[in-house]
Amino acid sequence: MTPLADQPAPQDTTAAPPAAASLIGVFDSGVGGLSVLRALHRQLPHAPLLYVADAGHAPYGDRDAAHVRERSERVVDHLVDQGARLIVIACNTATARAVDALRAHHPGVAFVGVEPGVKPAARASARHAIAVMATPSTLASARYADLVARHAPDCRVHPVPCSGLAAAIERGEAGSAEVDRLLDLYCAPLAAMDIDTVVLGCTHYPFVAERIAARLPPGIQLLDTADAVARRAVDLLAPQAADGDAGSIVLQTTGEPELLARMALIGLGQALPVQRIQI
Ligand code: DGL
Repeated sequence: MTPLADQPAPQDTTAAPPAAASLIGVFDSGVGGLSVLRALHRQLPHAPLLYVADAGHAPYGDRDAAHVRERSERVVDHLVDQGARLIVIACNTATARAVDALRAHHPGVAFVGVEPGVKPAARASARHAIAVMATPSTLASARYADLVARHAPDCRVHPVPCSGLAAAIERGEAGSAEVDRLLDLYCAPLAAMDIDTVVLGCTHYPFVAERIAARLPPGIQLLDTADAVARRAVDLLAPQAADGDAGSIVLQTTGEPELLARMALIGLGQALPVQRIQI
């Protein structure tokens, strides 16, 4: 993957109040947000992090918006109960469908959402032609339409709804025949397009970034926003939050603990216990 360093952060951060030094909550429908968690831990090695994978109610991206909103509310209520006052929505679909409602219900909490990196991709694209791989729900949302209208008015933007891909990765099958079949399906049209940049608009997709790149003509850059999102969260923290004792990472899931533990070992390089929760 060709990283695009130092691009403007593409994530949604409007109206976030300053965050106090406290637990940082991070959530996704499953394992995808681990890439954001890893970036956060690198940038804030002393901060206590609580990650929730709502895997028992995944996927989000192939379901209706009401499900995503309802589950995001539940997870955020839980994170707030645990003491989180800064919450990173490490899921493009949950950001697209729920961030406004979450902010309205929790005015004392700072939210950092993840949105497809349309803005940095449009800036980086020499041909003014990009593709956005994301879930059907993200690509059908009003927030996505607004993102494209605001940040890529002079760019051809090809949406690629990757139905089923996050779910297949979530099943722990990043190397499976099913993931290969889906990647063949979704990448084949990209190879025929005159694009030079592909946005990974779902936090699950970095797990298969190399397999996507292998299916595309050489020179096409892939853009993933995990580092930019983590930087934005760091900016929102009170300065003292970055100091102190060694940080901790707690992992919780509404699904299978073994799966999250396995993916955390791959994604974070750490063997961490995983708590199963019901929320
Ligand atoms: N990782 C999530 C995202 O960034 C979605 C995965 C899912 O469909 O549950 O959109």
